[in-house]
Amino acid sequence: MSKKTFYITTPIYYPSGKLHIGHSYTTVAADAMARYKRLQGYDVMFLTGTDEHGQKIQRIAEETGVTPQEYVDNIVAGIEKLWSLMNISNDKFIRTTDEEHVAAVQKIFKTLYDKGDIYKSEYEGWYCTPCESFWTETQLKEGKCPDCERPVELTKEESYFFRLSKYQERLIKLLEENPEFIQPTSRRNEMLNNFLRPGLEDLCVSRTSFNWGIPVTFDDKHVVYVWIDALSNYITALGYLSDNDELYKKFWPADVHLVGKEIVRFHTIIWPAMLMALDLPLPKQIFGHGWLVLDGGKMSKSKGNVVDPVVLIEKYGLDAIRYFLLREVPFGADGVFSNEALISRINSDLANDLGNLVSRTVAMIKKYFDGVLPIDREGGEFDQELRSLVVNTKTKVEEHMDKLQFSSALAEIWKAVSRTNKYIDETMPWILAKEEEKRPRLAQVLYNLAESIRIISILIQPFMTETPIKIWDQLGIPENQTAWESSGEWGIYSQTKPVTSGQIIFPRIDMDAEMKKLEAITPTTEKAEDDKKQHDTRKNKKDEKANSENTEGIAIIGIEDFAKIELRVAKVLECEKVEKSDKLLKLKLKCGEEEKQVVSGIAEYYSPDSLIGKKLIFLANLKPAKLRGVESQGMILAATHGQSLVLLTVDQDIPDGARVS
Ligand code: ME8
Ligand code: MG
Repeated sequence: MSKKTFYITTPIYYPSGKLHIGHSYTTVAADAMARYKRLQGYDVMFLTGTDEHGQKIQRIAEETGVTPQEYVDNIVAGIEKLWSLMNISNDKFIRTTDEEHVAAVQKIFKTLYDKGDIYKSEYEGWYCTPCESFWTETQLKEGKCPDCERPVELTKEESYFFRLSKYQERLIKLLEENPEFIQPTSRRNEMLNNFLRPGLEDLCVSRTSFNWGIPVTFDDKHVVYVWIDALSNYITALGYLSDNDELYKKFWPADVHLVGKEIVRFHTIIWPAMLMALDLPLPKQIFGHGWLVLDGGKMSKSKGNVVDPVVLIEKYGLDAIRYFLLREVPFGADGVFSNEALISRINSDLANDLGNLVSRTVAMIKKYFDGVLPIDREGGEFDQELRSLVVNTKTKVEEHMDKLQFSSALAEIWKAVSRTNKYIDETMPWILAKEEEKRPRLAQVLYNLAESIRIISILIQPFMTETPIKIWDQLGIPENQTAWESSGEWGIYSQTKPVTSGQIIFPRIDMDAEMKKLEAITPTTEKAEDDKKQHDTRKNKKDEKANSENTEGIAIIGIEDFAKIELRVAKVLECEKVEKSDKLLKLKLKCGEEEKQVVSGIAEYYSPDSLIGKKLIFLANLKPAKLRGVESQGMILAATHGQSLVLLTVDQDIPDGARVS
């Protein structure tokens, strides 16, 4: 009989910058699920990849001075390296620039057009470039993108449309009749009530305003606009519409698409409608997980609020990071990422609970039996309770894993870890070791510990990729005692070599010392920054004093410090007073391709009208901040002397965007 199959996907990532720990979240979760299913004997297809087209990529490439293809090649190489560093076990990596994908998307587009499900018309809407999303007037939040709160542009162009509205009734029926289709359930209700029942509009699926996309074969002004291109990856990666569609036949429909909550709508409305239009089977489930946020704000690349997974892995080890991502927050809910929470998990769950259990057990087997434990499976006091709890853990883990509840699955495993640690306290092996006639009991106790650890080491395999091997090595557990099924059986452990105390699996971290080190490398949010300000002012005073060796008491910096500062010429497009403030002006600046909003405390020196058209010097890479609730995306430079203040401007005309150095 052929093996059962399991097909799981992550979203394909925009290579618009470095990936942060939030991106690793979906991928690590999918990896845990793929590993779990493989351990259970499934034939697994785990797909991830990159979503490489669109205006945003084209713009970034232009700004960087490379072709879009060069730009994505470079970033994608980094993404693949990150996944390999994180031991992500994907079976395929799809790039939407792959020839096979491009050809298949062109065929899909043409098929839909021939069927009348795609038609030509004109589009007008508010477009947010960073998010690559069109919004209707009512969706805007204070005139800005409701997702990232950046300015949107009113865009009108000839476009092809997908007849999404035609599928409204079928989609409603699909969601109503298949409560499992969208998980968690709250997201299903949101789709039904907020999108499907109020009515679907047809979807704009081509663009003419940029060309970094898949060309529409029958109308070469147009490129396929993001969602038809991106979503199709789940089938084109399997060879759908290619010369070889064996994988498609074997694995489609997908068992589960894992996606972040902000793209649930695309995956549960547009994607099923596309598949319906193509007469293809629908995926069995879409799971919308929550966001991992950094203190107050979203950890989004567009806001530059990033935590680097590579740095975290270097510092704490891969398994600690993988464990934290899956343990800290119930999958589905939003959660806060903080260094403090991470370190405290490492210290309590990993160093203290699991790490100590292993090192104590290994140390006792070495000390009392010279590393070779006589096998004695007989039981004594406390043993039955320990055995039944540990042996029953597998079933509980499986129940949670089948619902993608990674955090609950890990909590079950840690119940076994705690119970085993408690068993050491109950049986007190060091007391048993004092009397020769208690040696048989001592052997039994140590056997029970080793066997519990064997079971635990098997169950953590979906989550951790390095620790199980370390444990097997230290306890001398051979591979044939590590099958998934055997984690539900007691009495398998027998050594093939003496135990060896290797390195400590999870060293304890000095929280205070570490937090100080981290402060230097971790970006803080605005709120945290406010709290920090007072402290910093004091610290700066001290630093100033330390630097007062040079004549003016000014710190000397190297050219590399100055190079961090991005100064540009910016033209004032609009200027007005900030409400309820005597000091603040709000300026809209044009800086090359970009428009920026800056709030500046110059209202007592300049009237708003007098500034319009002026070219000022603009600090472009300052972290955005809110002043009186108004976002300021940089700073304009001014010279001050006593009571006077004058703005810095350019001596002769030069285009805005010009670099100042
Ligand atoms: O959305 N916490 O790509 P993407 C948790 N190309 N998850 C996060 C996160 C965070 N802080 N930040 C990002 C796209 N993610 C499209 C997908 S699929 C056909 C096309 C998750 O690079 C996010 O929710 O913006 C999404 O699931 C994934 O990372 C990729 O995001
Ligand atoms: Mg996104």
